[in-house]
Amino acid sequence: MPAALETQVGIVGAGPAGLLLAHLLHLNGIDSVIVERRDRDYVIDRVRAGVLEQGTVDLLMAMGVGEGVRSRGLRHDGLYVSFKGQRHRVDLADLTGGKAITVYGQNEVVRDLIDARLETGRPLYFEADRVAVDGLDSDRPVIRFDHDGQDHELRCGFIAGCDGFRGICRPSIPAAALNVYERTYPFGWLGILAEAAPACEELVYTLHDRGFALFSMRSPTVTRLYFQVPPDESIDKWSDDAIWAEMLTRMTTRDGWAPNVGRIIQKGVTPMRSFVAAPMRHGRLFLAGDAAHIVPPTGAKGLNLAASDVLVLARAFKGFYKCGRTDWLDEYSAVCERRVWKAQRFSWWMTSSMHRFPDETAFDRQRQIADLDYLTSSRAAMTSLAEQYVGLPAEVSFESAGLPQ
Ligand code: FAD
Ligand code: PHB
Repeated sequence: MPAALETQVGIVGAGPAGLLLAHLLHLNGIDSVIVERRDRDYVIDRVRAGVLEQGTVDLLMAMGVGEGVRSRGLRHDGLYVSFKGQRHRVDLADLTGGKAITVYGQNEVVRDLIDARLETGRPLYFEADRVAVDGLDSDRPVIRFDHDGQDHELRCGFIAGCDGFRGICRPSIPAAALNVYERTYPFGWLGILAEAAPACEELVYTLHDRGFALFSMRSPTVTRLYFQVPPDESIDKWSDDAIWAEMLTRMTTRDGWAPNVGRIIQKGVTPMRSFVAAPMRHGRLFLAGDAAHIVPPTGAKGLNLAASDVLVLARAFKGFYKCGRTDWLDEYSAVCERRVWKAQRFSWWMTSSMHRFPDETAFDRQRQIADLDYLTSSRAAMTSLAEQYVGLPAEVSFESAGLPQ
């Protein structure tokens, strides 16, 4: 006999989307259970995003889980775009009336949110096996899973599918009920973490003849770097020395700036994809974050989109459980999709203007340089970049999702 459990919102996945949603619901007095396939250390140690939009930082603060980002996050008022051997600064704060981005690793965000979850005493099952959802069209959908050798059946008011791109929630929706929009790119990113003090206080996005490269960081002692490689590149092909040689070739500018070199402590290759599945709701299953959409990392939007989705979802569940309203549930997908598509467009544009494409012509190449030349010499163009990079305004207020403004 499976162990029978009940909750208002069953959440599949303890990534940023699932954990943020769980805490937003907790603050509204709404019960949830989180079911996560991996163990705690795996979830925390996965190296992924690092850039938080202003609105994501504000959300963490308003939720009372912002102490880490406040004390250890690195606020950046600008970024650099580098091409033809020269860095050009885009003053994000000046162009957006004082907004900025904060560099704070996704690992740290997830660690802070797991701590907050454990403090609430509400359930979070790590290492759940054979997770499946059922009864999505009924008013009592279920999540089934094995935990510690015991079958569980979790009856839910709603299910939030926060299980990422390779999760089970999206594939549980009949294919005919979903529209899928997808673009793959003919390259991926080779990324490293290195024990080296950041050589620049802000991010540097580089277009070089050999392809894209990005300088970022995680802390005053850890540098994060990426460069464009073929999509199926094996990391084993790259010795540490070869990685550094390629990084330095692409990033060194004519004034002699280059990243500091140090011991490589993590490395991997990430493929690039744009993907949207819509609507983000089927019956009582709501998809949020990477479960519904993926962006190429060039715009640094993935984690931020997960945060904005769950703000809209928290409002919907709060409206239902606290005021008996269903209109916010019904609007959920449309509200999210508007923001998702703007982020898709921005991420596609950042990616297209800064990478080398195998089939590009000499004309394409000149146009790309002109694009960056225009961008870095026009205040209007820089303002457009800046307002999107720091994050477009959310359609949903914190107050409507049950948070203080
Ligand atoms: P996820 O973080 O994927 O969380 C989903 C959770 O669900 C995971 O904990 C997973 O273990 C769990 N899960 C999966 N299947 C099941 C199941 N069957 N049952 C239960 N649990 C399940 N974004 C950037 O902005 N910059 C970057 O540099 C960047 N790098 C990335 C590198 C990689 C390799 C990947 C995959 C993503 C990267 N992203 C980056 C995107 C960003 O990390 C994601 O947008 C963000 O993690 C989305 O959060 P999420 O909670 O929706 O999904
Ligand atoms: C990162 O720091 O990992 C990072 C920064 C900016 C991006 C992508 C990744 O666009």
